[in-house]
Amino acid sequence: MFYEPRLDNSGLAIDPLKALVVPRPIAWVSSVDLAGRVNLAPFSFFNLVAEAPPIVVFAPYGRKRNGEIKDTKVNIEAVGAFVVHLATWDLREAMNASSAQLPHGTDEAALAGLEMVPSRLVAAPRLAAAPVALECRYLKTTDLPSLDPDEPNGVIFGEVVGIHIDDGLITAEGRVDIARAKPIARLGYSLYAAVTETFRMTRPD
Ligand SMILES: Cc1cc2nc3c(=O)[nH]c(=O)nc-3n(C[C@H](O)[C@H](O)[C@H](O)COP(=O)(O)O)c2cc1C
Repeated sequence: MFYEPRLDNSGLAIDPLKALVVPRPIAWVSSVDLAGRVNLAPFSFFNLVAEAPPIVVFAPYGRKRNGEIKDTKVNIEAVGAFVVHLATWDLREAMNASSAQLPHGTDEAALAGLEMVPSRLVAAPRLAAAPVALECRYLKTTDLPSLDPDEPNGVIFGEVVGIHIDDGLITAEGRVDIARAKPIARLGYSLYAAVTETFRMTRPD
């Protein structure tokens, strides 16, 4: 089959787009507003896009059902800091709960019973339970085209300035065995994948 997204003519019951670009890592992002109120939300339009220095990008698109721009975007642009956490199998329910669309200023971490601790280098606190946390300094927002002028599209770039890794993930050989953390990733519809096994392939050159 073939379809054109702008024509929405797949003929399928549900637009399959998000079931095709998979698995998407989940940035579980904490931020604070100018009053210091904590916010936590997951974003699967996310990736690492540079290494030296490390830079991440994610897309808090559209608006919440109450019409507000997503709190994560507003906070990061105002304060200039955020933390990206690895979403894991053990934390899956809390991660999902933190995606609830709540009015600005509501602390999803507190609602999900998650402990936040101060970060080392940035104003946004981090989740104590997350085995990996990337402290990020906001770099810039790039606006993108949107089919609906009332639903903004854009991506946020941040430089990773500090990295926390649970010592339990580090092997005797000095590598990170990420499968121990059972990361979860987003598929389409309401589906997720969990990384529980890995395989090795070496490059030809
Ligand atoms: C696994 C998962 C991935 C999500 N990915 C995105 C995303 O990439 N972009 C987005 O705007 N919303 C995404 N959402 C929805 C947001 O988490 C949701 O809109 C949230 O309320 C935003 O919170 P905030 O207003 O506190 O920033 C995702 C939700 C889940 C559960």
